[in-house]
Amino acid sequence: MKVEVAEGRGRDELVLRFAGLPGSLRRASFNSALLREAAVLAPPQAQLALYDDLAQLPHYNKDLREEGDPAPVADMRAFFAEADAAVIACPEYNRGMPGVLKNALDWLSRPPDPPLYGKSVLLIGTATGGMGGALAHYQARQVLSAMGAIVLPGREVVLPFAADRFTPELRLRQESDRILLREAMERFCALKVFSLGN
Ligand SMILES: Cc1cc2nc3c(=O)[nH]c(=O)nc-3n(C[C@H](O)[C@H](O)[C@H](O)COP(=O)(O)O)c2cc1C
Repeated sequence: MKVEVAEGRGRDELVLRFAGLPGSLRRASFNSALLREAAVLAPPQAQLALYDDLAQLPHYNKDLREEGDPAPVADMRAFFAEADAAVIACPEYNRGMPGVLKNALDWLSRPPDPPLYGKSVLLIGTATGGMGGALAHYQARQVLSAMGAIVLPGREVVLPFAADRFTPELRLRQESDRILLREAMERFCALKVFSLGN
């Protein structure tokens, strides 16, 4: 269920394990593609693995929790608990984050030991509109901070006109976009604190 997307790196050399959350169910999702690019552009000491079971998550329901977390929820929580930090690619639906992403964050936010609490998060994203999903990012930032995650401040990777930016193979066309993403991953890796511990 988890896809290791960074290639050519032995686990022994790894210092940082990042868990990637794409906020889209679409097979040809630009946001999933952006996360895969981020995995390739990450500095050598980091590995970014994508969570790809978003479609399996039930809608959040406390009754389900009280019966014991459903298996897809338990798996997702374990995936993020094992990571040092998270990279979230947030699409924009009607100027907000897609419901599937909010649902995943709601499941991740519940005690005990919510896996993103006190952990650093890099928000990236792309949208086909001209604002690149900036308003959805703003909302995601609010939700993540309510969950106790620490969202990397500063310049965001928010890429507008997604349909023009990717090749049919879902690779970024422009070197300038790769540079932006590489620099964001480098800044993220250079953080001194990834987790406040919980
Ligand atoms: C219900 C819905 C609402 C959308 N609203 C926006 C929007 O507010 N801003 C925008 O830039 N794109 C919007 N889009 C277009 C998305 O940016 C586009 O579908 C994009 O490909 C979604 O990301 P994905 O490729 O990772 O699935 C919307 C798409 C849908 C289906």
